[in-house]
Amino acid sequence: MSNRLKVTPNDLSAFWMPFTANRQFKQTPRMLVAAKDMHYTASDGRQIMDGTAGLWCVNAGHCRPKITEAIQQQAAELDYAPAFQMGHPIVFELANRLVDIAPKGMDHVFFTNSGSESVETALKMAIAYHRVKGEGSRTRLIGRERGYHGVNFGGISVGGIVSNRKMFGTLLTGVDHMPHTHFPDKNAFSRGVPEHGADVASELERIVALHDASTIAAVIVEPVAGSTGVILPPKGYLQKLRDICTKHGILLIFDEVITGFGRLGAPFAADYFGVIPDIMTTAKGVSNGVIPMGAVFVKREIHDAFMTGPEHLIEFMHGYTYSGNPIACAAALATLDTYKEEGLLTRGEELAPYWEDALHSLKGEPNVIDIRNIGLVGAIELAPIAGEPTKRAFSAFLKAFERGLLIRTTGDIIALSPPLIITKGQINELVDHVREVLRAVD
Ligand SMILES: Cc1ncc(COP(=O)(O)O)c(C=O)c1O
Repeated sequence: MSNRLKVTPNDLSAFWMPFTANRQFKQTPRMLVAAKDMHYTASDGRQIMDGTAGLWCVNAGHCRPKITEAIQQQAAELDYAPAFQMGHPIVFELANRLVDIAPKGMDHVFFTNSGSESVETALKMAIAYHRVKGEGSRTRLIGRERGYHGVNFGGISVGGIVSNRKMFGTLLTGVDHMPHTHFPDKNAFSRGVPEHGADVASELERIVALHDASTIAAVIVEPVAGSTGVILPPKGYLQKLRDICTKHGILLIFDEVITGFGRLGAPFAADYFGVIPDIMTTAKGVSNGVIPMGAVFVKREIHDAFMTGPEHLIEFMHGYTYSGNPIACAAALATLDTYKEEGLLTRGEELAPYWEDALHSLKGEPNVIDIRNIGLVGAIELAPIAGEPTKRAFSAFLKAFERGLLIRTTGDIIALSPPLIITKGQINELVDHVREVLRAVD
């Protein structure tokens, strides 16, 4: 660790921090200066257990040697190659490796640099797909209340988090939203997928009847919603959405930006639920969060529909300067190797029952009104302080950091998603920290 990183800079004002209470942070900064496996090192030297895999992305844990070395080597060999009208070998190798672990039929991959870009790519692909097939009237996009699909205009338009939408004008036109699937009255303290609520999928039929299927391009959902506070799909719900989309020729997009790469104990949520979408957006875990990268998986029929017309013409007018950047590809290949060698894409399945029991042992602690879990994801919902929503959970976040645990909070919900390398002993430690935090916050 360099000395430069050990200290807190004197002036924190220039950096306008993303999704951060800037003024609060700059009064009492929380600086991370190093990381290894399950832990961060804070600038005061304390070890902080990572209860959130960074931001749901460091699935293999921190500073894994294979990934670090791959990046170093690639940076010295081929740092950048133009992404348009040129190629380099490892981007093709990576696409093949990803297709190998993807749900059957998802044969093509389009590279981006983030979850938000993967979402924009998928939405544009869906609209353009119908157009190239001669159904140019299918332009409408259907999202869901409380959905999170990143922060770009397409993503916030189909997304359903009010605070992320209300500041930014009229957004995309031609968007509608299905109801969310959070039914705490019936499903509180469910273990795994909740029993009640699959019928809410039939709201999609109502929306289709209202607009007519001939105007709808795609439905986008997170199979398990993460950023909005861990909302699970009721038993049978995703299959119902799949059936309705198939019946009406509407593409189904799964936003797997957090569920991809082993989070639920299967490579993708599509595998976990046995429901295969037409397009799947990923990012985060694809490169272990180390270098920005996203990947959109597409069924062969969708890709092939574009491959018509004169061969010298570009088939899909979309892409990013850094799509398939060589260093990101090297990081992703080494990440896939690490996942494979350590069985991380399915490790969550083995640990899930232990994780579930540990989390649910928090039932009865102060202010806990719900606990939810699936794979290696958990949420503890707290009763809000009257008139001061989010304050209790934010206090819990600060207390947890003081105690040496990084958690994530949304609204009054604590979300947990540790690296997939976590041991049973570390699960106990994490839950004990949370218990003490719950007892300490007002
Ligand atoms: C489901 C989902 N989609 C999209 C995104 C956006 O990803 P990014 O922050 O990489 O743009 C996120 C980020 O948490 C996410 O959870």
